[in-house]
Amino acid sequence: MSFPARRLRRLRRTPALRRLVAETRLSVDDLVAPLFVREDIDEPRPIASLPGVVQHTLDSLRKETAALARAGVPAVVLFGVPSAKDAEGSGAWDPDGIVQVALRELRDEVGDEVVLMADLCLDEYTDHGHCGVLGPDGEVDNDPTLERYARVALAQAAAGADVVAPSGMMDGQVGAIRAALDGHGHPAVAILAYAAKYASSLYGPFRDAVDVSIAGGGDRRGYQQDPRNAREALAEVALDVEEGADAVMVKPALASLDVIAAVRAAVDVPVAAYHVSGEYAMVKAAAERGWIDGPATALEQLSAVKRAGADMILTYFAAEVAELL
Ligand code: PBG
Repeated sequence: MSFPARRLRRLRRTPALRRLVAETRLSVDDLVAPLFVREDIDEPRPIASLPGVVQHTLDSLRKETAALARAGVPAVVLFGVPSAKDAEGSGAWDPDGIVQVALRELRDEVGDEVVLMADLCLDEYTDHGHCGVLGPDGEVDNDPTLERYARVALAQAAAGADVVAPSGMMDGQVGAIRAALDGHGHPAVAILAYAAKYASSLYGPFRDAVDVSIAGGGDRRGYQQDPRNAREALAEVALDVEEGADAVMVKPALASLDVIAAVRAAVDVPVAAYHVSGEYAMVKAAAERGWIDGPATALEQLSAVKRAGADMILTYFAAEVAELL
């Protein structure tokens, strides 16, 4: 009779043994909760394709953020839904724009207990739904967009953001934002760069959440990355770090586990992964049908993202999972 040299099952026998030897520890400290705040509504509005997620009023946003703080979640990232949009997306840098008002109110509510991040983009604010301003040819015009991003960064910083998170995938966006922040008295505001952001079908429910539809049935393939490319993600990340990114993000999460691992190995800054709206919605929809165990699947997926190398995870499961950990 011969025995294997190692019997791996011995250390799997009891929950305590498994806990002791676990290589990955998902913690509430890893979580960032994405929150939507909408201008001019009196009641929070459910988002059909994101069960359990709402468009907040300023009041419900304060309450939700306070509850997340009590649950130990260290950070939120804000997305605004303005009542009026225009070609430039000027609501994004209006000092009284919805995210700026929300940042001031949340600082008041939670002090420094919660890291306040602001998604920095124009798509929620433009009437055509693109992440930048359009040139005469109808394409998103890179450098004029950078000028607008700088304005947004300054408005968000002035309103109290700890971290701005540029998500528009324009070339040079991190450098332009860093220069604007440093040149206008905000050297302490950090940049979490959406560095490797793929043109993904998994953002569908998010676009419902922020009332965005891209003009003429267009898409973002002209500026977001092709999901077939991984080396290109490392080039994006390297440039963002060179331009001053304090942390870099890979998005979506589950569809990019290889990229998360490669980025973690390539840089020393913190790596974030965004478990996006479609990833959340798929779990919720299947769980609603009784096809999978929702909370168990959420924990499994987020642990896999952590195992791949993410130091923090943006997830719509933040509140739910904080209770399970
Ligand atoms: C752009 C932005 C998007 C998401 C985060 N920031 C949408 C897009 O690129 O089309 C998607 C997040 C998600 O799907 O959860 N402001």
